[in-house]
Amino acid sequence: MEVALRGVWYSYDGQVHVLKNVELEFSEPGIYVVLGPNGAGKTTLLKVSSLILKPARGAVIVDGADFWELSEEEKERVRRSVTYVHDKPIIIRGSVRENITIGMKIRREVDEELVDYYIKRYNLASVQRMPASRLSAGQAKAVSIVRALVLRPQLLALDEPFAFLDDLRAQTLVEDIINMVSKGGRVLIATHYMYGRLSNIANYLVELLSGEVRRFTKLR
Ligand SMILES: Nc1ncnc2c1ncn2[C@@H]1O[C@H](COP(=O)(O)OP(=O)(O)OP(=O)(O)O)[C@@H](O)[C@H]1O
Ligand SMILES: [Mg+2]
Repeated sequence: MEVALRGVWYSYDGQVHVLKNVELEFSEPGIYVVLGPNGAGKTTLLKVSSLILKPARGAVIVDGADFWELSEEEKERVRRSVTYVHDKPIIIRGSVRENITIGMKIRREVDEELVDYYIKRYNLASVQRMPASRLSAGQAKAVSIVRALVLRPQLLALDEPFAFLDDLRAQTLVEDIINMVSKGGRVLIATHYMYGRLSNIANYLVELLSGEVRRFTKLR
């Protein structure tokens, strides 16, 4: 699924613009790293690209269509292919496993085998029956990432995914991201720090400062 931002402006309060005339194209499958300091607008950019926040001005074009002009039904259909993972993990009441399957349940398509696969892969098997509220910060982050991965999105936006993850889980995530891209997916990653493991795999770099794209570079 091709996504493009055309002259996108965004404001939370209707006064200060935190995204300013952003032009971006996620036209090829790949890993798009959005890099910038705290407050640059990375989270906002990811939420606009994931079809969560509606731009104040400009358009988000998905496979040639202006997303915000689509009917509610069409919007819902398109959104099924897109998943955003918050920087701070959102944990609902219930067990770890229930937290992982929540997105699937909403879509009424729980694939228990796929859930088992990712639970093992992210080392969560021993805690899967535990109340999710008892998870450590890194475990909670892993759960929120697995919750997205089991939905097999075509566009996956990860907000500071490596914060809190241990080395093993971070490496597993890198493998899963590469795998997703090899199948034609697009992965957007917001970060304030260019981790070594990220610079090794990034295909594109979006440098964001004060809500403006300063540079959009193809790396490999
Ligand atoms: N809900 C909100 N209401 C009002 N202003 C907001 C809100 N969320 C973010 N902002 C403002 O928008 C600007 C960009 O915030 P954003 O969260 O997109 O930055 P960021 O690059 O993700 O920062 P960080 O590295 O700290 O995560 C900031 O100035 C912030 O204060
Ligand atoms: Mg952020």
